[in-house]
Amino acid sequence: MAVIKVVVGSVYGNALDVAEMCSQKLTELQHSVELLRNPQIDQVVTTETEVVLICTSTTGQGEIPNNLLPLYDQLKDQLPQMSTVKYGVIALGDSSYDTFAEAGYLMDSLMQELHAQKNGDNLVIDACETMAPLEEAEPWLLEWVKGL
Ligand SMILES: Cc1cc2nc3c(=O)[nH]c(=O)nc-3n(C[C@H](O)[C@H](O)[C@H](O)COP(=O)(O)O)c2cc1C
Repeated sequence: MAVIKVVVGSVYGNALDVAEMCSQKLTELQHSVELLRNPQIDQVVTTETEVVLICTSTTGQGEIPNNLLPLYDQLKDQLPQMSTVKYGVIALGDSSYDTFAEAGYLMDSLMQELHAQKNGDNLVIDACETMAPLEEAEPWLLEWVKGL
């Protein structure tokens, strides 16, 4: 059983729906899960946190949603060492944008910079390809969780 923080970046609720489904499944698998809709650094960087699952859409022209931006800025400014933390990324976007899924990639690069350990590959969900993000996310999650 791991202590997992599910960190959300969402404008219209798609990424939040995916994050809620992931939180529910991870809880059913006996993990200790906290879903952070407006994540702050002191909720994510704690001695208890073992795993961070980032679930974010991209907005504007490749921008991080407003509810996730404070955490991104705090991590960038303070550069905490996160080498004991495993993480994964679910990135929602739309491939008609040049900046496809950029917010997910920005968060991924930042976690690398903080020396967090990547668990599995990113899941990138393209709104051009699917109207059912939860159906893509669930099988990915069940594989992803095996690596924890
Ligand atoms: C105003 C606006 C800007 C967007 N900009 C991007 C973008 O730069 N890159 C991208 O991949 N998707 C972009 N998208 C698509 C969203 O990321 C996608 O629809 C996603 O599923 C929305 O998730 P959310 O409801 O959690 O915000 C944009 C959507 C809107 C409405």
